[in-house]
Amino acid sequence: MKLIIIIVTFVCVTVKCNAISLDYYYAASDFYRPGNGSEEDSKQVLTFVEPAKVRISVFYEVFCPHCRSFVTETFSPVLEKLGRYLDIYTYPYGNANTVKKNNKIYFTCQHGPTECYGNKLHACALDIVKSNTNALKYNICMMKYSNSNQGSDDNAADKEIEKPTKLNIKYYYETHCPYCRNFETDHFREIIEKLHHYLDIQTYPYGNVNRLHLPNNTFEYVCQHGPDECYGNKLHACALDLIKNHTAALLFNNCMMDESQENKGSDDKAADKCASNMGYDSNGIKECALGEKGSELFNYYGEETSKAKIRGVPNIWINGSKYIRSDDVMEDICEYFVNPIPPCENKSSTENA
Ligand SMILES: *[C@@H]1O[C@H](CO)[C@@H](O)[C@H](O)[C@H]1NC(C)=O
Ligand SMILES: *[C@@H]1O[C@H](CO)[C@@H](O)[C@H](O)[C@H]1NC(C)=O
Ligand SMILES: *[C@@H]1O[C@H](CO)[C@@H](O)[C@H](O)[C@H]1NC(C)=O
Ligand SMILES: *[C@@H]1O[C@H](CO)[C@@H](O)[C@H](O)[C@H]1NC(C)=O
Ligand SMILES: *[C@@H]1O[C@H](CO)[C@@H](O)[C@H](O)[C@H]1NC(C)=O
Repeated sequence: MKLIIIIVTFVCVTVKCNAISLDYYYAASDFYRPGNGSEEDSKQVLTFVEPAKVRISVFYEVFCPHCRSFVTETFSPVLEKLGRYLDIYTYPYGNANTVKKNNKIYFTCQHGPTECYGNKLHACALDIVKSNTNALKYNICMMKYSNSNQGSDDNAADKEIEKPTKLNIKYYYETHCPYCRNFETDHFREIIEKLHHYLDIQTYPYGNVNRLHLPNNTFEYVCQHGPDECYGNKLHACALDLIKNHTAALLFNNCMMDESQENKGSDDKAADKCASNMGYDSNGIKECALGEKGSELFNYYGEETSKAKIRGVPNIWINGSKYIRSDDVMEDICEYFVNPIPPCENKSSTENA
């Protein structure tokens, strides 16, 4: 009991000190700030400083009620919010005794043999599940009160092994921003191609636009990189509207953004090229972008973007939280899945503890 209180205090202190570096990191992560739109301005890259990880050790046993409430109510949100800044080690053992007899190891546990079995389920998950974060999430789930009896039994273990629900991704961007194009080429294509079955991806082609309300009750849009960018954004909005297969629409837009496209991409030439690659006709999309429908869609994405209160693009949200980009976005997304999904299985995990 005493031990647990000490751990709780430790975690709280850790949360406070990490919050400072997290804020700093958050501020530094707006790597594309609204600027004057010039090439020099776009090239300015902020330097990232990865904060040193804080080591946390949690000692527990699976049937102890205080452990269960601590793990599910306190530890779980810490893992969710700060996991990437922590090195977490867990020890599912508690007040057990190890007895060696005739070259064999026996255990007695405070709450009996079923608790020993539960502790072993946790230990095996830590050993078998490839990513440490996923193993921790799995074990937290087994400790939940909603689970059978005291949790951490076969029923609880099975319950978590279900089809993963789709993970929600929101991506805010503008078509001529160099960092958006770079993200699309280096990461987004692979994410769409490999993970689309597991993700619900919503994209918002709008970005840093100044919307002026004119006296005749119409709007004028001033895009950060000029009128060509507004048109490019509209091409994207129209593709999302007209291409009924959403994954294909995402890939079409990704193709228009690709760094290999001439000029700044996302123009008529890119639209024609990408459409013909995919066996589509780009005329409908271009007509839409030039007309009333394009403006209507653009206005819609503007309103969604302003609701999200984002600062700068590219701006990515995963399951409702702002995502702070690292070098391996795909790996970070894979981390969200408690049971590794097949496209993630062969990704090397750098953080197995
Ligand atoms: C735009 O910003 C960059 C760097 O921030 C600066 O070097 C450049 O002179 C600015 N251009 C204009 C037209 O203000
Ligand atoms: C996404 O968030 C919801 C609610 O916060 C949570 O129930 C769900 O498990 C999360 N999904 C993933 C894959 O993390
Ligand atoms: C509204 O005013 C703007 C600027 O004066 C003008 O360009 C535009 O054509 C007008 N739109 C309508 C529908 O009258
Ligand atoms: C939708 O498009 C994707 C990517 O081009 C393709 O893999 C998938 O088979 C398409 N789905 C349907 C139902 O046509
Ligand atoms: C992962 O790697 C193994 C062995 O290298 C291979 O058999 C398997 O097909 C790969 N799985 C995926 C999803 O690529």
